[in-house]
Amino acid sequence: ASAVSGALFSVGAQAAELTIGFSQIGSESGWRAAETTVSKAEAKKRNINFKIADAQQKQENQIKAIRSFVAQGVDAIFLAPVVATGWDAVLKEAQEAKIPVVLLDRDIDPAGKNLYLTAVTSDSVHEGKVAGQWLVKTAGGKPCNVVELQGTVGASVATNRKKGFEDGIAGASNVKIVRSQTGDFTRAKGKEVMESFIKAEGGGKTICAVYAHNDDMMVGAIQAMKEAGLKPGTEILTVSIDAVPDIFKAMAAGEANATVELTPNMAGPAFDAVIAYKTKGTMPPKWIQTESKLYTQADNPMAVYESKKDLGY
Ligand code: AHR
Repeated sequence: ASAVSGALFSVGAQAAELTIGFSQIGSESGWRAAETTVSKAEAKKRNINFKIADAQQKQENQIKAIRSFVAQGVDAIFLAPVVATGWDAVLKEAQEAKIPVVLLDRDIDPAGKNLYLTAVTSDSVHEGKVAGQWLVKTAGGKPCNVVELQGTVGASVATNRKKGFEDGIAGASNVKIVRSQTGDFTRAKGKEVMESFIKAEGGGKTICAVYAHNDDMMVGAIQAMKEAGLKPGTEILTVSIDAVPDIFKAMAAGEANATVELTPNMAGPAFDAVIAYKTKGTMPPKWIQTESKLYTQADNPMAVYESKKDLGY
């Protein structure tokens, strides 16, 4: 039995009658912008009354938004949690109001597992592992010093992508992370932190590869490398996560090497889970996992760019 089974109500409700509130993190990356656009489109397809609150990267704004959705008596709440901790009190309030919460794209601490209906996320440890394994294979036994651009401190995806990458390179003593700092998932910070890495690493001469927890930071890092007279994609390998159109443009230009795809369509499966739950009482699995696919320069990056460029990134 699920901890939220007591929250079942209005079985037989129609999808078109549902009002769902979404506490979105903000617009820090191209991927995030696409997730917002795709969520609206998926809501429209299902005739859902969809309300989005932009938290501008602040957990306190997300907490306020959830409280406001509870006060409005919405049928369900979607939450993309900016960080993994600090949700217990507000999620308990939603649970007491019998409003199911669905996590999108990021997790909360396992202790809060009974406070949400389901989570639609990728396996972010796996994403990091795929990136690390790609690098081990590509470095081919040569010594390889890696600099890492981490995502937002405290975000589940940053913690997991770091761990996964470390797992992926664990068996290769030639591949080492020499510097690691947050770039907060933004292009501007990715560039700024990469500039400091380049300075600290002899003008970039001792850097073999850059691993970034998202493509936006990598796009910023590529800019920093080019401005420092370095050649990303050839002299310095790159691997990142998201698969946003701009990274395919960089791959087509030979300035980026690999990315692991994260679908921006987290809301589609989340809407379907809520509709089935509210209309038929169907309990979704606790984790609805989305796919992670590795793309390299061998995957016709220009064609992928063309196929993605109008999708809201
Ligand atoms: O939670 C998903 C991550 O958040 C994306 O990889 C990143 O681009 C975004 O900011």
